[in-house]
Amino acid sequence: MTPLEVIRRRRPGFQPQVAVVLGSGLGGLSDQMVDAMAIPYGDLKGFPRPDVSGHQGQLVLAKVGQTPVALLEGRAHLYETGRADAMKVAVRTLAALGCEALVLTNAAGGLDNDMEPGSIMLMTDHLNFTGQSPLFGEPSDDRFVDLVDAYDPALRQQLLDHGKAMGVPLHQGVYAWFAGPQFETVAEVRAAGILGANAVGMSTVPEVILARHANMRVAGLSIITNKATGMSNLTLSHEQTKKHAALAMDKVQQLLLAFLKDYGS
Ligand code: HPA
Repeated sequence: MTPLEVIRRRRPGFQPQVAVVLGSGLGGLSDQMVDAMAIPYGDLKGFPRPDVSGHQGQLVLAKVGQTPVALLEGRAHLYETGRADAMKVAVRTLAALGCEALVLTNAAGGLDNDMEPGSIMLMTDHLNFTGQSPLFGEPSDDRFVDLVDAYDPALRQQLLDHGKAMGVPLHQGVYAWFAGPQFETVAEVRAAGILGANAVGMSTVPEVILARHANMRVAGLSIITNKATGMSNLTLSHEQTKKHAALAMDKVQQLLLAFLKDYGS
């Protein structure tokens, strides 16, 4: 059975309008939703097997207000397998289910001086420093995806408005995708900054490309878990990423819930 068939069989008639991918340490969102049903990735052929601690590995179908949503709790990263297309089946399944929009979250290191750990950056664009694409090998001409305004201006405005209304200020900026799993060098962060990056991270961009290829609208939120390499005296670690993601978690959850609730109305 395809993942689409499994989902349709377990939850007949449920058509999510918007999907969310939850990054490191952000898995708790579905606890705040009603009418939630989880399907482990293991039951969905081609979905990732997340092996990074802080990632759960399940698809949750639920409602926020009147809006039916699909949550991907856990993602695959390029650094796990060396494959940039590890989220292909998941993103395409969400599109086939009827999701019009995909909201991506991640943990990232901040380059701007005013981005303290625990702050949130709304992604306005990205830099792909990996040389990889999830569309390598894609057979037809639709692989030449246009990425102007890939981060949907109207969705960005909605998130900014909700942030403002809730007293959650959002930074805005460009996310630079590095392959990882090692953190960036001081020189890499300096170069990224010169080239226009405001944050650095190891995820999200492949899902953005896949979602645009599938004609979904995209929004992205980075949780700034640390100042990027060389911008503070702290030693970076995944423990620290999870700890600071937890600090911002409540704000991000409230922001996403308000956005999702409003989305369908
Ligand atoms: N670099 C890359 N990925 C990250 C970082 C970082 O500084 N922080 C959290 N994820």
